[in-house]
Amino acid sequence: MSFWSRKTIEMCTAEAYGEDGPRLRRSLGAVGLTAFGVGCTIGAGIFSLTGDVAAHQAGPAVSLSFLLSSIACFFAGLCYAEFAAMVPISGSAYSYSFVTLGEGIAWIIGWSLVLEWLFSASVVAISWSGYTSAALKDIGFPLPAMLTHGPFTLSASGHWIPSGAWFDMPAVLVVVACTALALAGTRTSAAVNTVIVVAKLIALVLIILIGARHVHPENWQPFIPRNEGGFGHFGWSGVARAAGTLFFAYIGFDGVSTLAEEARNPQRTVPWSLFASLLICTVLYVSVSIVVTGLAHYRSLGVADPLYFALSRAGVSLGYLRGLVAVVAIAGLLSVVLASIVGQVRIFYSMARDGLLPPAFGRLSPSAGIPFLSTIITGTAATVMAGLLPLELLGELISIGTLLAFAMVCAGVVILRRIAPDARRPFRTPWVPVVPALGFLSCLALMLSLPAGTWIRLAVWTGLGLVIYALYGRHHSRLSAAGSRKTAESERTLPRSSPPP
Ligand code: ALA
Repeated sequence: MSFWSRKTIEMCTAEAYGEDGPRLRRSLGAVGLTAFGVGCTIGAGIFSLTGDVAAHQAGPAVSLSFLLSSIACFFAGLCYAEFAAMVPISGSAYSYSFVTLGEGIAWIIGWSLVLEWLFSASVVAISWSGYTSAALKDIGFPLPAMLTHGPFTLSASGHWIPSGAWFDMPAVLVVVACTALALAGTRTSAAVNTVIVVAKLIALVLIILIGARHVHPENWQPFIPRNEGGFGHFGWSGVARAAGTLFFAYIGFDGVSTLAEEARNPQRTVPWSLFASLLICTVLYVSVSIVVTGLAHYRSLGVADPLYFALSRAGVSLGYLRGLVAVVAIAGLLSVVLASIVGQVRIFYSMARDGLLPPAFGRLSPSAGIPFLSTIITGTAATVMAGLLPLELLGELISIGTLLAFAMVCAGVVILRRIAPDARRPFRTPWVPVVPALGFLSCLALMLSLPAGTWIRLAVWTGLGLVIYALYGRHHSRLSAAGSRKTAESERTLPRSSPPP
C-alpha cells in the first residue's frame, strides 16, 4: 500500500521544525531567498534563447510570449505559496505531493524535479562554456575546440554522433567550482549568489534604460510577423510555441520553496519571495526583449549571444555596455549553476529523509549544517553530464519535467483543501479551484506545445524512476516502516482469543 500512503501535515511540520532529528539551519531572510529565486531563474533563457525565439518563432512579439509564459508560472506560484507557507519543508513539489497524492506519485514528482535542477545545472554550465569560450576568443585566448564540446552531438535526425571533441572543459570547471561553493554552506553560497544577482539586475536595467534610447521603432513592425506556414513559424501559433520554449527562462523561480526549511519566518518570507522573484524576472524579461528587438531586426537575432549582438548593432557608443553584458552573462549563468545544485541537494535530502533514497543523501555535516555527501554526489553527476552530454538532448526535457511538477502542485492544492480543510493556511491561493485549474491547464498546454520526442524521453525517465522505486524506495520507505510498526504494536495489544459471538 505504500505507493498511495500519504504523510500528514503534522509529520512534515515536525520534520521542518526539527522535532524529528537534526535539521537544516534557518539562516535566510526574504532578501536572500528572493536573490536565490532570481539567481536560479535569470540565465541562459534571457541571455541566449530570446534571440533564437525572436528570429524563428515570434519576431518582436517575443515579449508577448514571455508574458504568456509567466502567466502559467504565476498560477503555479500562487499554488506553491499555499503549500510553502503551510508546510515549510525542503523538497518543494516532492514534499507537497507526498501529503496530497501519496508516496509513489511524490517519488515520480521528485524524480521529475531531478530534470529541473540537476539537468539544468548541467545545461546552464554548457551554455556558460559557450559564452566563456566566445569571450576568451574575442580577447585573443581561444580554447582548443577539442576541449569546448562534449564527445557527442545530436544529428538532424536525432541520432548521437561523435563530435570529434574530448569533453567540455569550461563546463566541467564551472560545475566543480559551484559544487565547492555549495559545500561552503548555505550562507556562503547565498552571499555569493546575492552579489552576482545584484550585478545581473544592474546590467539588465542598464540595457533597458540605455538601449531604449537607441531603438529603431521600425524594427517592431510587424509586431507579430505573418505565419510562414505550419504551427509555430510566426503568427499567433509562433507566439504560443515561443511561450512554451521560453518557459525554460522561468525555471528556477520555484527554487525559493526548496529552501523553505532554511528560511527564517518561512510562512511569510517564502510566499513573498516566490512572488518577488517571479515579478522581477517577468518585468526584466519583457522589457529586455522589447528593447533587444527594437535595437536589431528580429531576423538577425538568431545568434548565441543576442543581447551582446543587438547592442553591437546599435552602434559603437554602446561598446562599454557590450563588455558589461558579456561579463554579467558569464557571472549570471554561474549563479544559476550554483543555485541549481543547492536546490537539487535539498530535494534529495527530503527524499532520503523519507527513506526513498540512501541515507547518504540526507546526512548533514556537523560544521556547515548542509547535506555534505549529497552535495558531492550531485556535483559529480552534474559535472559528468556537463562534460559529456549534448545540450540539445537536455533542454526540452528540463521544461517538461518542471511543468509536470508545477501541474501536480496545482492539483495538490485542490486535493488538500478537500482532505485537510481545517489545516492552518498562512497563505491561501485565491479562487480555488479556478486558479489551480487554470494553472494545471496552462502547464498542460505548454507541455503539449513541446515535441513528441520530449514526451517519449519523459516516459523513459519516469519508467527508470519507477524501477528504482520498486527496487529501493518501496523497501526502505520510512512511512511504510512506521505503518508496519504501528500494525505490529496494535496486533500485540489485541486480546489473545476473540470473544464469543
Ligand atoms: N531559468 C534558467 C535559465 O534561463 C534555467 O538559465
